[in-house]
Amino acid sequence: MKYKVNFELDFKRNPYKGKLIVFEGIEASGKTSQAKRVAKILSKNGKVFLTKNPTDGEIGSFIRKEILAGNKKHIPPVSFQYLFAADRVIQQYDLIKRLKRGETIICDRYLWTSVAYGIVDRENTDYKNWEKLSVVALSLLSMYYQFILPDLTIYLDVSLKESLKRISKSAKHTEIYDNNKMNIKIKKGYDWLLKTFPKEIKVINGEKPLDELTDEIVRLIEKI
Ligand SMILES: Nc1ncnc2c1ncn2[C@@H]1O[C@H](COP(=O)(O)OP(=O)(O)OP(=O)(O)O)[C@@H](O)[C@H]1O
Ligand SMILES: [Mg+2]
Repeated sequence: MKYKVNFELDFKRNPYKGKLIVFEGIEASGKTSQAKRVAKILSKNGKVFLTKNPTDGEIGSFIRKEILAGNKKHIPPVSFQYLFAADRVIQQYDLIKRLKRGETIICDRYLWTSVAYGIVDRENTDYKNWEKLSVVALSLLSMYYQFILPDLTIYLDVSLKESLKRISKSAKHTEIYDNNKMNIKIKKGYDWLLKTFPKEIKVINGEKPLDELTDEIVRLIEKI
């Protein structure tokens, strides 16, 4: 059964001194590489906090060790995003404390990821049907009521082909989402985000060489 209601998402602009910078993208798009490189450069000019989703906290560690590693096959995937949300809620308190102190936060994935991966966790998501995809995407984002939106979200755009090539070369890509079938859906989720939040997410070509990308990203951050 479906009700037609207007659905509004309620996020918060960052009102604090510090800045929140987020990296997003499909599997192996280079988020962790760039987050680390950029954090290193920015830390020459002030306090930088490099963090990620899932976090290294209690719930985040459980997600990494048990869920992402595929050790909890009996837990229905549809419940995963509630765990991710709980981890992010805890993280949000820490991020606010740091933003108030004026820290620059670099976050490797953030709430946008919940859409891209959440649609994968729902077996019956008809991800080719835009309207249906939107219903699921909005339901996922609604878990982040009053969360602080990043001052800058960088989406590292790589093709599925390039992503697969990098996954096949990398020994650390063994998590439950690291396969092509899922990656196709994950990309659809990001397509939805880019179309729905064009002003929030800056797309850059993630297939450029590492150094060139780092320079481009640092220049973007300097602007804000
Ligand atoms: N610009 C680039 N050009 C070529 N290879 C790259 C580039 N950026 C990252 N890589 C390589 O791709 C692989 C994945 O990179 P990385 O771990 O940074 O991606 P990620 O987006 O964090 O992946 P995940 O989604 O699994 O967290 C690594 O082997 C890395 O060296
Ligand atoms: Mg990574």
